Amino acid sequence: MDEELKPYRNFLKDSIRKSIDFSQTDQSLGIPAPLIEKPYSPDSFLIKLNTANWQKIYPLKLSEAIKNRESRRIYTGDPLSLQELSFLLWAVQGVRFIAGGNAFRNVPSAGCRHALETYLTIFNVEDVEPAVYRYLPLTHELLLEFEESDLKEKMTKATFGQSFAGQSAVTFIWTAIPYRMEWRYGLDSHKVIAMDAGHVGQNLYLACEAINAGTCAIGAYDQEYFDELLRLDGEEEFVIYAAPVGKID
Ligand SMILES: Cc1cc2nc3c(=O)[nH]c(=O)nc-3n(C[C@H](O)[C@H](O)[C@H](O)COP(=O)(O)O)c2cc1C
Repeated sequence: MDEELKPYRNFLKDSIRKSIDFSQTDQSLGIPAPLIEKPYSPDSFLIKLNTANWQKIYPLKLSEAIKNRESRRIYTGDPLSLQELSFLLWAVQGVRFIAGGNAFRNVPSAGCRHALETYLTIFNVEDVEPAVYRYLPLTHELLLEFEESDLKEKMTKATFGQSFAGQSAVTFIWTAIPYRMEWRYGLDSHKVIAMDAGHVGQNLYLACEAINAGTCAIGAYDQEYFDELLRLDGEEEFVIYAAPVGKID
C-alpha cells in the first residue's frame, strides 16, 4: 500500500466534518451568499431555449433508459436540434423553482448550493453557430461566451487526445465555483461538489437515451489547458467534468 495514497482517501470520508467549526463559515459569519448563477454582461448575445412538456415529447420509460445507457464515443455526425439541446439542458440543470435564495433544480445538490456552471462547445446544433456557450439556468437561455478557432482540435487537446470530445454535436463541460459550497460548508464542500457532478452526468446519460443520442463522461483532461481554453481563472472557477453528446445509429 502506497502511503502517499492515504491522505487522498480522506477526501472521500466525512470525518473532516469533526474538525470544522461551522460557526465560522462565511454563512454563519453573516457574509452575503454568493450569486447562484455566474453574472454576464447585459449586452451579451443570448439564445432563448425551448420549454415544453418534455415527458410528452420524449416519453422514454426510465427503466428503458437505464437498461440502454452506455458510454458512447462514436456519433453519426447528424445535428442535434435546438429543441433536443434544450431538453438536455433542462435535464442536467433545469430550475424548477426558487425559494429562500436557492434555485431548486432537476438534479439534487448538497444544501441546494449548486456550485456548478455548464459550458457547451457547440459544433453541430441546428440554428446555432459553432462557438463556446454557457447555459443560464435561471432564464433557460444560452449565452454566447466566445468564438474560438480550431475548437475541435483544442477540445481534443484539452482531453488528452480523446478526439470524440471534438467530434460531438455538442460537448458539455462542467466547472465548479467552489465558494458557492464553501460559503456554507467550508472544508466539507469538495467531496459533495464532486458528488453533485455525478448526478448531472447521469441525468445527461439518461436524457440522451430519449433523443437517440449518446454521451460519455470524461474525467481525464488537462486542467490548465482546459481552464485557459474556457478563459477561467483556475482558482475561483475551474473545469471538473465533460461529456460529448452526439446522435447515434
Ligand atoms: C467519473 C468518470 C470519468 C470517466 N472518464 C472517462 C474518460 O476520460 N474517457 C473515457 O473514454 N471514458 C470515461 N468514462 C467512462 C467510463 O470509461 C465508462 O463509464 C466505463 O468504461 C463503463 O462503461 P459504460 O459507461 O458503458 O457502462 C468515465 C466515467 C466516469 C463515471
